[in-house]
Amino acid sequence: MTVIVTGGAGFIGSNFIFYMLSNHPCHRIICLDKLTYAGNLSTLEPVMNNDNFRFVKADICDRAAVEAVFNDERPDILVNFAAESHVDRSIDDPSVFLSTNILGTQTLMDACRKFGIRRYHQVSTDEVYGDLPLDRPDLFFTEQTPLHTSSPYSASKAGADLLVLAYHRTYGLDVTISRCSNNYGPYHFPEKLIPLMIVNCLKGKPLPVYGEGKNVRDWLYVEDHCKAIDLILQKGRAGEVYNIGGHNEMRNIDIVRLICKYLGKGEELITYVADRKGHDLRYAIDPSKIHKELGWLPETKFSDGLRKTIDWYLSNQAWWEDIISGDYQLYYEKHYSNR
Ligand code: NAD
Ligand code: DAU
Repeated sequence: MTVIVTGGAGFIGSNFIFYMLSNHPCHRIICLDKLTYAGNLSTLEPVMNNDNFRFVKADICDRAAVEAVFNDERPDILVNFAAESHVDRSIDDPSVFLSTNILGTQTLMDACRKFGIRRYHQVSTDEVYGDLPLDRPDLFFTEQTPLHTSSPYSASKAGADLLVLAYHRTYGLDVTISRCSNNYGPYHFPEKLIPLMIVNCLKGKPLPVYGEGKNVRDWLYVEDHCKAIDLILQKGRAGEVYNIGGHNEMRNIDIVRLICKYLGKGEELITYVADRKGHDLRYAIDPSKIHKELGWLPETKFSDGLRKTIDWYLSNQAWWEDIISGDYQLYYEKHYSNR
């Protein structure tokens, strides 16, 4: 089986490549990644010399480059992780979100149609459902929840999802979509909540909590997400959407406090800053479909996963120091100073 993994130099894509190479040693994995600010080739160093792995630097919007990889590799499966993924950046400049997340998806599916494929899998997000009120803990996102997006990022992901379903209905392309909640774990880019708070805490820098810190996210350890996608590839039904989440809802402020506690720091670094525009209040996934149909259940308890994640950041300082010493500083200044 030959699997193209787009966006495999990013957070979840790299974890998925590691997972697939160790759990399916006979699969050939091709990583296609543009290496944007969020992609890091050093992340893939442990597998670069694996005979079953190949890295190709390419943009998913570049039709000729994508077709060249299909022509060389004749893949059986494509899993599309490649995306602009940070909500705050999409609020500053939506353009690249629309081109990569929507037109890139189109380019990949056109190549799948031209060369033939067994399965195209779109890695989507729970953000396509919008948000839930904080005072209705009985409500959850199911696969039937209407799409109702808040940010340019989530709108671009919803646009891509609709296009994927359209390619299934119109052209009969074999597709599946997964919509997962917030992931955390190793190789998470430091602009996102959990790694940002770990890194700032270690540096003794302010911990910028948006608004009052009461927004709720449903956190899932990244390896549990990878396992769910693998199951969908093996047993998921064509044309179907699968929600992925672990019933692990946490308020942002409680996560930041936990990180301070694990790192043995006081809470005096916590700084409340201006809220995100259009900030979604609460995400909460109902994962019963993937549980009932495919037998998936999350395996990592949040307290264990957070501890493993913090330990990973403590042991892999060179990885994140390298990232935060470059252009990231300019982003950080622009985004957080005078906030
Ligand atoms: P990330 O930002 O860490 O990585 C994205 C990767 O895509 C990077 O390696 C980047 O170089 C690559 N990329 C970006 N534009 C590209 C292009 N035009 N061509 C080729 N490669 C390109 O993202 P992530 O957090 O790993 O998210 C991966 C996917 O999972 C995204 O589609 C995201 O919407 C989805 N998702 C993320 C989460 C989460 O909590 N992080 C949750 C649910 C779904
Ligand atoms: O739900 C899935 C989504 O989760 C994915 O589709 C996105 O790609 C991924 O980035 C993530 O989106 P969020 O916006 O939920 O993640 P982020 O880490 O940016 O923020 C999590 C929460 O923390 C959110 O309520 C905003 C808040 N926050 C974030 C940052 C970066 C802060 O309070 N301070 C911060 O500095």
